[in-house]
Amino acid sequence: MLQRRLPLFLALFMVVAVGLTAVAIVLLNRTDRENCLNSASECDARVAELLPLADLSLAPQLLVDKACLACHNLANIAPPLELATALAASRRPPLSAATYLYESIVYPNAFVVEGYNPTMPLTELTDEELASLIAHLLGEAK
Ligand code: HEC
Repeated sequence: MLQRRLPLFLALFMVVAVGLTAVAIVLLNRTDRENCLNSASECDARVAELLPLADLSLAPQLLVDKACLACHNLANIAPPLELATALAASRRPPLSAATYLYESIVYPNAFVVEGYNPTMPLTELTDEELASLIAHLLGEAK
């Protein structure tokens, strides 16, 4: 009896195993794409490629035009960006300050600052705009 059912059990087991593997792959890929902690070296490389494109003179106007300040000037809606400059290097170890800032803008909900809600939208930015904002927030604007 049991012997006759063995192929059925094996087939069932394989279906479940393949299904679980597929789900795991989808979930893993999703977290990979949505934050820099799981792919720090990729994000680091992207940031290294971006930063030379930065034009610090663009940043102040971008913060207005891209509506960043619409939220970040209201302390109860979003944390003041000066705080991001001060804390970027320690917000999400082992991410560097620049990689943390990159992640904050490109994957806005990957990490949510304590006391705030994950309401920051993804903003469409060119590489130059993104680089300029990261460099500005790093504190190179002085
Ligand atoms: C609709 C409101 C909103 C807009 C628009 C917005 N943000 Fe945010 N942002 C937030 C909120 C809320 C948080 C805190 C929650 C979180 O970490 O996701 C945040 C977090 C951040 C952080 C991390 C801050 C920290 O202290 O670690 C950075 C950096 C940042 N935003 C940059 C930007 C930039 C640059 C823009 C414009 C391109 C922008 N934000 C647009 C709401 C907004």
